[in-house]
Amino acid sequence: MIRKEIIDEIKARIDILDVVGDYVNLKKQGSNYRGFSPFNQEKTPSFYVVPSKGFYKDFSSGKAGDAISFMMESEGMSYIEALKQLGKRYGIEVEEENLTDEEMEAQSEKDSLYIVMKYASDYFQEQLWKSEEGKAIGLTYFKERGFSEETIKAFDLGYSLDEWDGMLKMAIKVGHKQEMLEKAGLIISRERKEGTRHYDRFRGRVMFPIHNISGRVIAFGARLLKNNPEVEQPKYLNSPETPIYHKSDVLYGIYQAKQQIRQEDTCYLVEGYTDVISLYQAGIQNVVASSGTSLTQEQIRLIARYTKNVTVLFDGDPAGLKASFRGIDMILEGGLNVKAVVLPEGEDPDSYVRKLGGRHSGGSQFREFLQEKQQDFISFKTAVYQEETERDPIRRAEVIREIVQSISKIPDPIQRQVYIKETSVKLGMDESTLFAELNKIYLKQQRSSSRQQTYEEQEKGVADIDFVHPEEPLDEPASVGIEEAILSKEKELTRVLVMYGHHPVKEDYMVCHYIKDELDDISLKHDIYQRIFSTYYQHVDTQKSLMEKFMIEQTEAEVSRQVINLIVDHYMPSPNWEQREVYVPKKDEKILDVITRSIDQLKFDVLKFMLAQKTLELKDETDINNVILIQKELIELQKIYNKIANKYGTVVPR
Ligand code: UTP
Ligand code: MN
Repeated sequence: MIRKEIIDEIKARIDILDVVGDYVNLKKQGSNYRGFSPFNQEKTPSFYVVPSKGFYKDFSSGKAGDAISFMMESEGMSYIEALKQLGKRYGIEVEEENLTDEEMEAQSEKDSLYIVMKYASDYFQEQLWKSEEGKAIGLTYFKERGFSEETIKAFDLGYSLDEWDGMLKMAIKVGHKQEMLEKAGLIISRERKEGTRHYDRFRGRVMFPIHNISGRVIAFGARLLKNNPEVEQPKYLNSPETPIYHKSDVLYGIYQAKQQIRQEDTCYLVEGYTDVISLYQAGIQNVVASSGTSLTQEQIRLIARYTKNVTVLFDGDPAGLKASFRGIDMILEGGLNVKAVVLPEGEDPDSYVRKLGGRHSGGSQFREFLQEKQQDFISFKTAVYQEETERDPIRRAEVIREIVQSISKIPDPIQRQVYIKETSVKLGMDESTLFAELNKIYLKQQRSSSRQQTYEEQEKGVADIDFVHPEEPLDEPASVGIEEAILSKEKELTRVLVMYGHHPVKEDYMVCHYIKDELDDISLKHDIYQRIFSTYYQHVDTQKSLMEKFMIEQTEAEVSRQVINLIVDHYMPSPNWEQREVYVPKKDEKILDVITRSIDQLKFDVLKFMLAQKTLELKDETDINNVILIQKELIELQKIYNKIANKYGTVVPR
C-alpha cells in the first residue's frame, strides 16, 4: 500500500503535459494539445491532451486516462510502479508500507523482474569497479576501447565474474528468489543425473545493460573478452525474451538518447552497443542501436515518438548494405524522413569516430563527416543501384522497381512526386515510366488488401455508432437496433450526470438528485454506465462540486477511463467527426428540461424493447392464464408508453 496522502501529493504535482511530452511531440491547439499517437502509427495526429482536466485521449486506439494511466499504458507498468516512477520524477519519496507476505507476492511479476534486473545490474557494476578480476579484465578492456569512466557509468556497464554461480549465490543470499532470477533470464537450469543444476547465464563477460525508455534495466548484452578457440561462443550473449524484455520493441540507448533526439529533432541509427557508446562519448548523444537485428515497426514507432528524422549509419560493408534496405522501407512507411550515410570501408561508427579524433574530440569531425556525407535515402538507394546497372544494364528494370518500391512507401503524395521527379533525372528516364511503375505497385497492393479494407470500414462503422447522439431523430433506420439506441441514450445520460450532476437546482437538491427522481427505479442496462451511476451516487454527497475530478481520478480504472471518454467525446469529437454537432447546454437553457427529455427518451426505448419482448412471449404462450397475465402487462406498458408519448404531443418524444 502507498499512503493516500502521498498519492494525493503526487497527483497534485503531476503536469500531464510534461509526462506525456516525454513520449509525444505535442502542439498546442486552442487550450488543448495534439500530437501523434504513441500507441499507434498514424498519419494524422489524433492524440489529445487536455491539461485543464489532466487527461489524455487517443482516438486511434481509444485509450484515455490521466498521467498515471498514461505511464501504465506506455510503459506496461502496474499502478504502483507508475506512481513510484512519477514520485521519483517530482522528488516525492514513495514508500510502500506494511507489506504482508501476500502483498509481496501480489506485486506483479513484472515489478519483481525489474527488481532482480536492477539487482543484477548493480552487482555487475560492483564487480567491474571493485573486484580484482573485474578491474583487471573488464575495466581494462573498456578503457582500452577508449571509454571514459563517465561514459562507463552513464551506460551502467559492468562485468560478470568468470565463475559458475557467483551472481546466483549472492542474489540468493540477499533474498532474491531463484525462480525470479530464472524468469529474468539471469540464471540457467540444467537437468543432470545428480539433480538440477543452476548457474549464471553470464560469465566472464563485460556487461551492457539494456534500458527501457524510462531507464530501467530490462536485459543484458554480454560481450566475450578473449576468443577461446576451444569453445565456440557467440561474441555477444543476450538476455532471452522475458515478460519485461521483448527484443523487437527495444532500441539500445534510447534512454540515454531521448532528450537529445528531441532537442536536435534527429535520431542516428547504428547497429551495435559500442557504436552507441562511442558516439555518445564523442558528444553525439542522439543515437540508438537496433542491436544487430533488422528494424521492427515497434522500434520505428519508438523513434517516431521523439522525431520524424532518422539518419541511418551504414557500416562500410557493401554486402550488408542492400540487406538492410528493406528495414529502411519500413521507416519510410512510418512517415519518417530517412537519410543515409555510409562509413568508409571496414569501419563501423565506433571505430571511425575514434579514428577521427580519439576520445572526446572525435565528435566535431564526425559531425562534419555526417553533415557532408548524409543524403536522403531514396537518392542514396538510387546511387547504389545505379552503380550496379552501369555494370549490368539488363538489371535496369529490376532496379527501377526496387527504387519505386521505396518511394511507394512514403505516405505523403507530394513528397512522392518530388522523389519521382528527382529519381527520373538521376536515372535519365521519363517520369511517366516511374509513375506507371508506382501505379502498378499500388494496384497490386489494393488487390491484395481489399479484404482488409472492408474490415477496416466495418471497424469504423462501430466507432460511428459510438458517437450517435440522442439529439438525432429517435426513429432510427432499421439497421440501428433498439439496443444500440438504448446504449447511446444511457451513455448520454451518464455524461450529463458526470458533467452536470453536481449543479445545484435549489438548496441541497442537485441535478443528480433530479436525475434519480426522474429515473424512478429504472436501472441502466449497460453494466459500465450502471457502475458509473452507483459510484457517482455513493460519493456525491461528500465530494459535491469536486465530483467530476473525483470520477476521473479516484475511481477504478475502467470507470475512470469511461468517464474520460464521455467527457472527451463531448469536448473533442473524434477528428473524423468534426461536423457532428454535440449537445452543449447553454447557460440559459433549462438543463432540467433537457434531462427529463433525455430520460423520457431512454424510458421510451426501454418500453419499446419490453413491449416487443412481451409480444414475442405472447405468441409462444399456450397456457390461457399466462396469456391473460401477459396481456395485462402489455396493457400497463402501453399505458406508460402512451403517457410519455402524449406528454410530447407526439408518438415520439423529441
Ligand atoms: P558487431 O559484431 O558489429 O559488434 O555486432 P560491435 O557492436 O561492433 O561490437 P565490437 O565493436 O566488436 O565490440 C553489432 C551488434 O549486433 C549484436 C550486438 O547488439 C552488437 O552490438 N550482436 C552481434 C549480437 O547480439 N550477438 C553477436 O554474437 C554479435
Ligand atoms: Mn565494433
